[in-house]
Amino acid sequence: MNFFLETIKVLLLSIWYNVESFIHLFVPMKKKNIAGEVVLITGAGSGIGRLMAQEFAALGTVLVLWDINQEGMKETARLAKQSGASRVHYYLCDCSDKNEVYRVADQVKREVGDVSILVNNAGIVTGKKFMDAPDSLIEKTVEVNTMAHFWTYKAFLPAMIANNHGHLVSIASSAGLIGVNGLADYCASKFAAVGFAESVGLELLATGKDGIKTTIVCPYFINTGMFDGCQTKWPRLLPILNPDYVAKKIIHAVLTDQVFLLLPKSLYFIAALKNVLPMKQGILLGQYLGAFNLMDTFKGHAKKQE
Ligand SMILES: NC(=O)c1ccc[n+]([C@@H]2O[C@H](COP(=O)([O-])OP(=O)(O)OC[C@H]3O[C@@H](n4cnc5c(N)ncnc54)[C@H](O)[C@@H]3O)[C@@H](O)[C@H]2O)c1
Repeated sequence: MNFFLETIKVLLLSIWYNVESFIHLFVPMKKKNIAGEVVLITGAGSGIGRLMAQEFAALGTVLVLWDINQEGMKETARLAKQSGASRVHYYLCDCSDKNEVYRVADQVKREVGDVSILVNNAGIVTGKKFMDAPDSLIEKTVEVNTMAHFWTYKAFLPAMIANNHGHLVSIASSAGLIGVNGLADYCASKFAAVGFAESVGLELLATGKDGIKTTIVCPYFINTGMFDGCQTKWPRLLPILNPDYVAKKIIHAVLTDQVFLLLPKSLYFIAALKNVLPMKQGILLGQYLGAFNLMDTFKGHAKKQE
């Protein structure tokens, strides 16, 4: 194709895609049917993982729960059954351990079958300034928040590729789009998770495997306990999110094949500004939004156990 024709084609398609997006502001996207799909959720023993399990249960899926917290998973399984799940399987699995991921994945394939919706949700936060964070905690953060995604993809993607069917869901964070003072290791792990999911998604498209969808979720603080103690400066602009609301938005994004889900909506604007503003103005805006002090009052889950 020559330069002229290709340019015209890109311009026309660009106009169409923008018109299409505009139409979808008023006309809801069609939702896909996921009844019977095998959904694996890591970190399903509490928080968003548990709530997503309940939402997926109500849609007639087969659930596979992974966590290091056996009691938490048992409770999630009970709630998922209450929400209508016919089959719930749960497995102790430390996602930060590659060999354990491969071993438990093989067990899942034997006992349940091929996973068609993979939700990488398990996550941890150190909550310390970079130079105060012990090496072991930094390594663990990257292993759970990033490397676990590599190993679960390696384990479950081959069957999705063979069937050209599946959905990869990455629960990242707004800290995977914008750096935060006091969250260096967490931000690094979440930036990596976003880059990884986006790149594999493109690799699948480029190789014609367009039946495998990707959803990358980047929420601001959620009221699950993980970031207990943290406060938001302007709650109207950047509210601390309700976990039920987040879980419902994630399921909606999966059902409509939405690639990026940023919560709250103001984050789309803030993330875009970050990339276009002069650096000094970006820092000024960051200070105005409270990004410099977000972690000053962090307590995390420990507070609940006291
Ligand atoms: N809570 C927030 O403010 C917030 C904001 C943005 C993104 N997120 C992300 O959302 C996801 C869910 O977080 P949450 O708020 O529900 O927290 P949570 O602490 O309630 O849930 C995390 C779950 O992961 C499990 N887990 C931890 N390490 C594991 C490991 N090695 N192997 C398997 N499971 C492990 C925990 O046992 C727990 O059940 C995380 O990836 C988190 O980074 C949370």
